[in-house]
Amino acid sequence: MCGIVGYIGKRKAYPILIKGLHRLEYRGYDSAGVALINEQGQLNIYKAKGKVSELEAYAADKDTGGCIGIAHTRWATHGEPNTVNAHPHYSESERLAIIHNGIIENYAVLKAGLKEQGYTFKSDTDTEVLVQLIEYTQVNQHVDLKTAVQLALQQVIGAYAIAILDKTHPDTLIAARKGSPLVVGIGEDEYFLASDATPIVEYTDQVIYIEDEEVVSLRVGEKVDITTINNVTKTPEIKRLELSLSQLEKGGYPHFMLKEIFEQPRTLTDSMRGRVNVRQDNIALSGFIDNKDRFLNAKRIIITACGTSWHAGLIAMYAIEEFAQIPVEVEYSSEFRYRKPVINKDDVVIAISQSGETADTLAAIQLAKEKGAFIFSICNVVGASIPRVSDSGCYTHVGPEIGVASTKAFTAQVTALTMLALCIGREKGTIDKDQFVSIVRELVQIPAKIERVLGEDKRISDFAKIFSYAQNFIYLGRGYNFPVALEGALKLKEISYIHAEGYPAAEMKHGPIALISQEMPVVVVAPRCGTYEKVVSNIQEIKARKGRVIAVVTEGDELVSRIADYTIEVPATEECLTPLLTVIPLQLLAYHIAVVKGCDVDQPRNLAKSVTVE
Ligand code: AGP
Repeated sequence: MCGIVGYIGKRKAYPILIKGLHRLEYRGYDSAGVALINEQGQLNIYKAKGKVSELEAYAADKDTGGCIGIAHTRWATHGEPNTVNAHPHYSESERLAIIHNGIIENYAVLKAGLKEQGYTFKSDTDTEVLVQLIEYTQVNQHVDLKTAVQLALQQVIGAYAIAILDKTHPDTLIAARKGSPLVVGIGEDEYFLASDATPIVEYTDQVIYIEDEEVVSLRVGEKVDITTINNVTKTPEIKRLELSLSQLEKGGYPHFMLKEIFEQPRTLTDSMRGRVNVRQDNIALSGFIDNKDRFLNAKRIIITACGTSWHAGLIAMYAIEEFAQIPVEVEYSSEFRYRKPVINKDDVVIAISQSGETADTLAAIQLAKEKGAFIFSICNVVGASIPRVSDSGCYTHVGPEIGVASTKAFTAQVTALTMLALCIGREKGTIDKDQFVSIVRELVQIPAKIERVLGEDKRISDFAKIFSYAQNFIYLGRGYNFPVALEGALKLKEISYIHAEGYPAAEMKHGPIALISQEMPVVVVAPRCGTYEKVVSNIQEIKARKGRVIAVVTEGDELVSRIADYTIEVPATEECLTPLLTVIPLQLLAYHIAVVKGCDVDQPRNLAKSVTVE
């Protein structure tokens, strides 16, 4: 996600815009830019790769005059993070300037049409297509900017929050949104615009939250004008801001981690957008489509990753072997890079990394490349080192993950890997068509089902108060949920500093059952699928030895609810998709226990968000 800021009013715009970008930098910092109309009516755009401070350094000796402007801090989705792709973007005539947060799904079709009309493009972004479309509409239909924005957005499929300037009308700032947030701040003879209220709160507490498919026109001395993209006039609803600045950066949550846990319904929707087409019962992953033969001819798939990303890889092993019937090995990158592994030219190596900068995973990729393997990466940061050295890949598009403990990136990784397994299986004919269709249709239901699990948050925080005393935990699961047990244990370890181990449930009798006691809670991931009956037996073995069990169960499961001490319910779903639901209670349990213990949830001791050293 990106951050956008706008200003029109009595003051110099530039300082307000830059300060606003700093407030929004947590939303993304691949590049930053500003567009200003100065007193001479010149439209100046300055932009720089990297953080906002880079932009400030670049603009230090430039003309940053003017009382109207827009600014943008980018989280790249289309096009590498560089100056050319940085926002704002000029229109062809350089009369207009636009900034955008979102994804225009049909940008390729729109771009082809504009090229036929003679338009040229400097960047790889979908945003530049939009500003060209708006200019084309304005010129060819002889309409004002607001009308051109309305007409252009009627053709757009996707999500957007935009702000646009026309240097021939320096008294007007136009903005619009659909699917990405946009807030207007109302000051004395001045208006503010931003992705959220953090850049606004220090100037005014009077705000208007723009709704989907609304276009807002701001002119000093006039009331806020809001219409729909179909030009239906709307009455602005002015609200008073009640949150502090620090709370606002976290979206009102006490920690980034909790915000990111609760973002997962939206972030999974974002990561499936333009890829899962439920109307056509199909999945389209461009990285797979462009490299089909490599996957179809692969004798083996090697997955290399670290930490939570390694857990996602373990889940992928179950899915790929079940649906694509290709042997999979899941390797810790730090071991793989040094153990002199056998790697063949027809191997496919899948590298998974949220940050795209993990040193061990980067080194593992380099080793595999030297041996001629095909590298496919699953990453959350466009243009990071790992995607840059990979042959192809799939971005997870969940926006910056600030909390050190990975949550929304994990569920997006599992989603991307499941989609990949399904695509390979479909192409190879190793998955039954009906099963494929059933899973695809269930996949798009997952965000709403996660929403239901998040509704258990209060109960889970109550459990946290009961169990925060524990010095040790064991997490158990089988099949697709064995890696979920590992992930749950890691979450607890890294933010609450309580020792926790994840195990295949059946492994209990090979040693760990000797540890069972009242003092060591056992979390069992027991959805009603796969080897459910065997997991129930494992729970009974624990109870027979006076263990205390917290079980994650399928809604309506009365059997385990009778045996376990505490249960957390998740909706039923396809077995291969259960990790997307069963991990949510484990994320929340770890979070709440850490909070009860007074730990630094977002920045746990000794850890870093990206381990760029060995
Ligand atoms: C997970 O919560 C941790 N932050 C850590 O295990 C992390 O998953 C690991 O360092 C890998 O990071 P990456 O996905 O950015 O490569």
